[in-house]
Amino acid sequence: MDSSTPTKTPPLEKLTGVRGMNDVLPADEPLWRRFEEAVAGAMRAYGYRQIRTPIVEHTRLFVRGIGEVTDIVEKEMYSFTDSLNGEQLTLRPENTAGVVRAVIEHNLLYDGPKRLWYAGPMFRHERPQKGRYRQFHQVGAEALGLAGPDADAEVILLCQRLWDELQLPGVRLEINTLGAAHERRAHREALIAYFEAHRDQLDADAQRRLHANPLRILDTKNPAMQALVEAAPKLIDHLGPESLAHFERLQALLKSQNLPFRINPRLVRGLDYYNLTVFEWVADIGGTPLTICGGGRYDPLIEMLGGKPAPACGFAMGVERVLELLRAQGGGGEAAQCDVYVVHHGDETLMAALQAAERLRDAGLDVLLHCGGGSFKSQFKRADGSGAQLAVIVGVDELARGEVSVKPLRSSDGTPAQQQTVAVDQLVDAVLERFAAEH
Ligand code: HAM
Repeated sequence: MDSSTPTKTPPLEKLTGVRGMNDVLPADEPLWRRFEEAVAGAMRAYGYRQIRTPIVEHTRLFVRGIGEVTDIVEKEMYSFTDSLNGEQLTLRPENTAGVVRAVIEHNLLYDGPKRLWYAGPMFRHERPQKGRYRQFHQVGAEALGLAGPDADAEVILLCQRLWDELQLPGVRLEINTLGAAHERRAHREALIAYFEAHRDQLDADAQRRLHANPLRILDTKNPAMQALVEAAPKLIDHLGPESLAHFERLQALLKSQNLPFRINPRLVRGLDYYNLTVFEWVADIGGTPLTICGGGRYDPLIEMLGGKPAPACGFAMGVERVLELLRAQGGGGEAAQCDVYVVHHGDETLMAALQAAERLRDAGLDVLLHCGGGSFKSQFKRADGSGAQLAVIVGVDELARGEVSVKPLRSSDGTPAQQQTVAVDQLVDAVLERFAAEH
């Protein structure tokens, strides 16, 4: 080969994120922030305190907590062996089990009930589609140590307050009761007998679940099985007076707060830890009904995970789904990057411009200092694009006179902007006055 010919290096493989795991880009930040602020406000309003647990937990926590015969544990968990010590670990697919683990481990219920909330990424190996991701975010609340329907009503009201705060349209509440374990056992026997009598109509999934978890057959999405499922024995007919009273009391409490709901006897939820109340909030996203939030009572879980028996209830919402709804109602909005954009003449004025920017930040303003030089025209284009209210102009001649200029970039009433020249040491006051006049 001719030594003067440059050797061609093969193009580098393009790196992309993992399928179903999304970047949240700065343009989406205002929407996330608006949501997060509303969540923090709602949680505070109900006396919930935040808890942060690890993203990785022992696999057995979820197997024991969520249940072995559930979609999540059977096929959706990101599990791996820690190569250093051989431990079986899992990226959390949800956070109720993790919160309960932490509550037991730190004995948080020693002095009475606890109201806790959390926010963060969860991981499920699902087929990605709109509203369904492999890394998604949840905000959840857990009321631990509280047994009555008042706690169920409270967590539901908390959700409603958040929807109201975010002005989310068309979010519908569905509720159901799963009764107590012995009632579900009686119902389960009846279901097994019923499905066995109709074995020829069951799909492979249902056949497999028939003895392990027949209740989950009711959750089937298979249209061919809808009629069969519709006519199956109902749990409500197997409930005793205590479970019925709990459910009726919850309904009365919700009605007393004018909170509309629909009883959906088919609502069983995809996790095994629930008893009594279960609920879901459903909204139409792109014409398709999607559950944006789900929860309920899970009295058996604390004991199942090795703690002293204590009742509990809670919910988790899918943040991406809620944000999709917010976006649909135009809740995104472009946020300004800064309050003030400082344009200047380059090297000769840089130190004064830097100084001006620092003083303005001292005064609590968000400031972008133009970097990278360029004509005033191109700098003003950037200033406009930044969303700043004001530009501060540091020019050579003005600076020689000890002055800088303040130029409004947008005025709330649409009147033409008046540029103003001020002494350098008056700049902060002049800028603050302009802001005070605008707001
Ligand atoms: P979950 O129904 O499995 O419940 O999830 C709650 C919410 O997370 C769902 O309603 C949905 O909005 C969202 N979600 C679930 N999977 C995905 C996904 N692959 N992509 C996007 N969003 C998703 C739980 O996780 C329970 N820990 C809730 C709970 C708390 N129950 C009592 N306390």
